[in-house]
Amino acid sequence: MIEILVADITHLEVDAIVNAANGSLLGGGGVDGAIHRAAGPELLDFCRGLGGCPTGEVRLSPGFDLPASHVLHAVGPIWQGGMAGETAQLRSCYVAAFECALSQACTSIAFPAISTGVYGFPKRPAAETALAVMQQYEEQFARVIACCFIEEDAAIYRDILGR
Ligand code: APR
Repeated sequence: MIEILVADITHLEVDAIVNAANGSLLGGGGVDGAIHRAAGPELLDFCRGLGGCPTGEVRLSPGFDLPASHVLHAVGPIWQGGMAGETAQLRSCYVAAFECALSQACTSIAFPAISTGVYGFPKRPAAETALAVMQQYEEQFARVIACCFIEEDAAIYRDILGR
């Protein structure tokens, strides 16, 4: 069952939350900034040792001061008009995050709307990509959460799911 929530992902008590990070993994604004603020400085220290992350891939860290046990740092594509493989790269982030969560025996996972803020990916196509992957994995998890930050975004997800 995919849950569509309007919430601050740093508040969710789930096994894993996904971060919309950049390739340096050294923090930033948006949800990345919120996660680093909530997790505390140990997260940045840990991420310094990861050596960055290519677009479309995910790196695992503990949640430190977050209620979530794990943070899956996903590096989404920067929107370049849709002809540079952005959809495939975005899909790869969701698949990699689910596979990493399974490897850690997570039973609950929450995603922000990766790439739809600073990275400029159009919200509806991004939500369609996200939900297609979530529907492929939802049977393997007790909870799959699409964590939107504003109601407008949640309405897009619900419209696509026909709710
Ligand atoms: N909880 C849940 N969702 C959030 C939160 C939060 N606390 N804060 C922001 N969001 C939402 C945004 O509203 C947007 O829908 O996360 C989505 C992703 O937006 P960004 O955080 O801007 O991420 P992205 O578009 O993937 O850009 C990544 O931004 O913050 C930097 O370091 C990051 O360089 C990277 C880039």
